[in-house]
Amino acid sequence: MSKFKRTLVTAALPYANGPKHIGHLAGAYIPADIYTRYLRNCGEEVMYVCGSDEHGTAIPIQAQKENTTAQAIIDRYHALLKSNFEKLGVAFDIYHRTSDQIHHETAQEFFLQLYHKGLFTEETSEQYFDEEQQTFLADRYIKGTCPNCASENAYGDQCEKCGKALSPNELINPISTLSSKAPVLKTTKHWYLPLQNYEPWLKEWLLEGHKADWKSNTYGQSKSWIDGGLSPRAMTRDLDWGVKVPVNGADGKVLYVWFDAPIGYISATKAFFKELADGKADYSYPNNSVIKAGKADDWQKWWKEEDTRLIHFIGKDNIVFHCIIFPAMLHAAGDYILPDNVPANEFLNLEGDKMSTSRQWSVEMEDYFQSFDGKEDVMRYVLTAIAPETKDADFSWKDFQTRNNSELVAILGNFINRVAVLTHKFYEGKVPAAGALTDNEQQLINDTERCTIAIDECLRNFKFREALFELMNIARAGNKYLADNEPWKTVKTDADRTATVMHHALQLAAQLAWWMEPFMPFTSEKLYQLLQFKKTEFKHSAFTQLDKGHLLGEAVHLFSNIEDGIIDEQIQKLNATKIAMAEKVQAAEASAWTAEAQKESVTFDEFSKMDIRVGTIVAAEKVKKADKLLKLEVDLGFETRTIVSGIALHFEPETLIGKQVCVLVNLEPRMIKGIESKGMILMADHSDGSLKLVSPSDYAAPGAGIR
Ligand code: MF3
Ligand code: ZN
Repeated sequence: MSKFKRTLVTAALPYANGPKHIGHLAGAYIPADIYTRYLRNCGEEVMYVCGSDEHGTAIPIQAQKENTTAQAIIDRYHALLKSNFEKLGVAFDIYHRTSDQIHHETAQEFFLQLYHKGLFTEETSEQYFDEEQQTFLADRYIKGTCPNCASENAYGDQCEKCGKALSPNELINPISTLSSKAPVLKTTKHWYLPLQNYEPWLKEWLLEGHKADWKSNTYGQSKSWIDGGLSPRAMTRDLDWGVKVPVNGADGKVLYVWFDAPIGYISATKAFFKELADGKADYSYPNNSVIKAGKADDWQKWWKEEDTRLIHFIGKDNIVFHCIIFPAMLHAAGDYILPDNVPANEFLNLEGDKMSTSRQWSVEMEDYFQSFDGKEDVMRYVLTAIAPETKDADFSWKDFQTRNNSELVAILGNFINRVAVLTHKFYEGKVPAAGALTDNEQQLINDTERCTIAIDECLRNFKFREALFELMNIARAGNKYLADNEPWKTVKTDADRTATVMHHALQLAAQLAWWMEPFMPFTSEKLYQLLQFKKTEFKHSAFTQLDKGHLLGEAVHLFSNIEDGIIDEQIQKLNATKIAMAEKVQAAEASAWTAEAQKESVTFDEFSKMDIRVGTIVAAEKVKKADKLLKLEVDLGFETRTIVSGIALHFEPETLIGKQVCVLVNLEPRMIKGIESKGMILMADHSDGSLKLVSPSDYAAPGAGIR
């Protein structure tokens, strides 16, 4: 028996600074929605809270870009996100926002709780200040040259080119993005949470306590942070947008956005119970009874009682905040529960490339609704079927089309349609009585039970992909049952047998309506209509759901085919983006580049002495105590050999694995840092000082000669 009585589910609060794309949906909002819908259907006490993250430096930056105010930005995107989620059937109990007064108060109280316990350290440090704008500069407001890859467009917190996390004082030639002037260093005071003090506790609670039950990505990332050693982290910022720091001497300072945002989960819960108490909301639990009133204070039960299970759904870029920093804050405050699990997803790529709204390489919710109105469930289905649960996954429009046409239409839709049409044709739409059962019926009942047990098990363990596959297996079993028993043939010869088969096929349809609801709520509703059946009438752990004589509704189609034309449009849209991006890069390169003069001539014989081959990098690691060197293992077809290359400043080793390169293979071997290097990898210079791999334009077999 579990010690938990209720489950509080959160999904990462999205920044209200732009539209959200399918990567965000697959990462957190859809799996969390499936999870909560399922528990609700099982009659458990569960709540799903979310809201807009409206602070942080990105929002004023966005406002500046769009020539408007931060308030206007958050109002616009908060409304957009709220309505997008609703349209997609993401059924939050509340979608709150961090600009709300309840949140400001909650976050300030939380800060003060730690402050009065003496848990912050105050530290003064030198930070970049823009003299023209008279303001301290957040990391994102500072640009400069990356010390790692020499890109000139690195931000103070990260270089987007090579991906390295930076701090502003590592940037070479820093520039303020507000004034385009060089910033000056100025002293400022901040409150830090000394995370290192929580290390022993984190080791016990997280590393010992959740070794077995957390996903390996969540656990592994947390472990490497803890093993790497934690350091004090500033919980305040010099900024005029956010939650004011509620202590004396903190003018012009706000709470660090990653301090205030997760507290947003608590504020959202509070706001919900306040609405409930004010009669402005209602709530259904357990067993679908609707609660229309409550005490505003009830939020405490969800955050402070040990029998509440807290689950955070997030993308992998949020792991450290949800597994280390926020738990440390909750633990420090003392009277809060801690997350029981943090199912983090990896990233979803689009047609093989990283998704990005700013680079317009994404499928945004709003755009999807425009082109595929009424097909919200299809996107929910596809994103669950390809969910990046254990590794990065790829969304492609062709795959989307195939999954719709050959899975939803051909398997699930087809089964329901045949059952409904035949019932209308043979029995005037009424469920026939079953006669004697054969092994085929027993088989169908057993198969269904096996699938539903698997779905339950998978959903409770955050394996949504597999759960969905088992759901489709129910429909597959239904199709097989019809094909094996051919009621359309037996109707002429054996009325009793036909009725038995149709009776069972109809029960299976009712099972599908209930089990598909968490995944595809709109289609489930359609199916309930078609069957004239209700969620509240579903009998748990029974196969038979519809009585004999029960009258069906109209036999509508659950899904429809998606034609090539509409898919091609989407692909063309992405191609246009790709071409525009490539042109931009080319133009920038052309204007920045001056080619070197040609070197002196060589004879053909001299050239042909050089043996250049295609190779595939199969392993890459940094060479210890040599920050410029990488040790590579390159598959050359005839052998795999070690090459030491001075490119560590330009590439993170893991990004090189699988890349094809050109290798000068008969260069004399050399000892470099005690490693024998046999050959040289060819590189192209780039105007920003970085290096590019030289690769064949299409796959070439390792060992292929270059001439
Ligand atoms: N806004 C953050 C993001 O999009 C997520 C915040 S999650 C919270 O990455 F816990 F801080 F709310
Ligand atoms: Zn870089």
